[in-house]
Amino acid sequence: RIRQVLARRIWDSRGRPTVEVEVVNEDGTRGLGLAPAGASRGTREAVELRDGGDRFKGLDVRRTVEGIAREIAPVLIGREVEDQAGIDAALIALDGTPNKARLGGNALIATSLAVLHAAAASAGLPLWRYLAPDRAVALPLPQIQIFGGGAHAGRRVDVQDFMVIANGAASFERALEMTAEVYRCAGELMAARGPLAGVADEGGWWPAFSRNEEALDTLVGAIEKAGLVPGSEVSIALDIAASEFGRGGRYRLALENRELDSDALCERLVRWTERYPIVSIEDPLAEDDEQGLAAFTRAVGHRVQVVGDDYLVTSADRVRHAASAGACNAVLIKPNQAGTVTETRAALQAARDAGYATIVSARSGETEDVAIVHLATGWNAGQLKVGSFARSERMAKWNEGIRIEQREGLPFAGPRALARMG
Ligand code: PGA
Ligand code: ZN
Repeated sequence: RIRQVLARRIWDSRGRPTVEVEVVNEDGTRGLGLAPAGASRGTREAVELRDGGDRFKGLDVRRTVEGIAREIAPVLIGREVEDQAGIDAALIALDGTPNKARLGGNALIATSLAVLHAAAASAGLPLWRYLAPDRAVALPLPQIQIFGGGAHAGRRVDVQDFMVIANGAASFERALEMTAEVYRCAGELMAARGPLAGVADEGGWWPAFSRNEEALDTLVGAIEKAGLVPGSEVSIALDIAASEFGRGGRYRLALENRELDSDALCERLVRWTERYPIVSIEDPLAEDDEQGLAAFTRAVGHRVQVVGDDYLVTSADRVRHAASAGACNAVLIKPNQAGTVTETRAALQAARDAGYATIVSARSGETEDVAIVHLATGWNAGQLKVGSFARSERMAKWNEGIRIEQREGLPFAGPRALARMG
């Protein structure tokens, strides 16, 4: 049973306030839940509650922390910590809004994750194993950012994430080894091109490019420089995050100072998939462009993973709707988009039922929390996305995967985890 619920303000990887909840059980075990924060958010996501006003540019979370102490804690105390579904339902009812705006999606996800961790701690199990009692799970295939862009890099390039997938790796650890070499070689190529201006929000190299294609060419060059074969050993994954520069079927490419309609953007991306070893594209069209997303999926979905993030916002209903519209073949799973662990799990199940692949994902504003590695493993999601290969809010997660793999001898999901691949 839950004895105590503590809430506090902590700081995320961008140095901004965020929420942490600590659930203490009567047996003395405890669980910590930390809320991450996105920068390129879908409009249907659970809403973050922040103070507004002048402190920390309005981003403080004092009201959020107070709400947890005043309203959420009394509802949780005395409850069975294992009753995740019942507790999450109580949180949703207590908030009472469709988008969790009153108490805040950040308050709810931190609480919900703290309850989950506390339940695993009380059972004396690592979180992944608490979620997978029969252990029939695999370490996820990582998608790792090499160049940041879009909202994470002052919109220096239009595309948000230029990532690699080590599809030739036989283990999680080997996938990280291959990525480390590609990341280092990409940095050397950037340094040779001129002023190297550090890294973007998720640790990827700052995108000093004049065309999106230049980033793709440099990425292929980095894979080759690392002595790896593009396509068969290491492939490319992109997050276009098109909702950031497109609405109503019009897409404004800042780099080229040019507007494309949905068909033209679609054609451009199809051409990229033919020219470059691309195995996955996320949010190729904007969240309001379902026709475009369905057309793109029809065009490449048999050979490329098409991932819905802003469009699906980790919602089981949205996933079922997408499946009936034929849009996407994979779902990004971000717990704080849904707002509770139970709803996150339901979105993952809806994806599985629709035959869609799943990728558990961090946010651009992260913390040292490694819970998503356990969710991806314990839920057997198949894939994991946590940003780049630098900065410890990212490396903490990759390193946790190494520990789980070595301690438990779990298999590696590998390229079979990709939708329509392998
Ligand atoms: P965000 O973006 O965390 O900044 O919202 C991540 C993504 O689009 O996948
Ligand atoms: Zn995304």
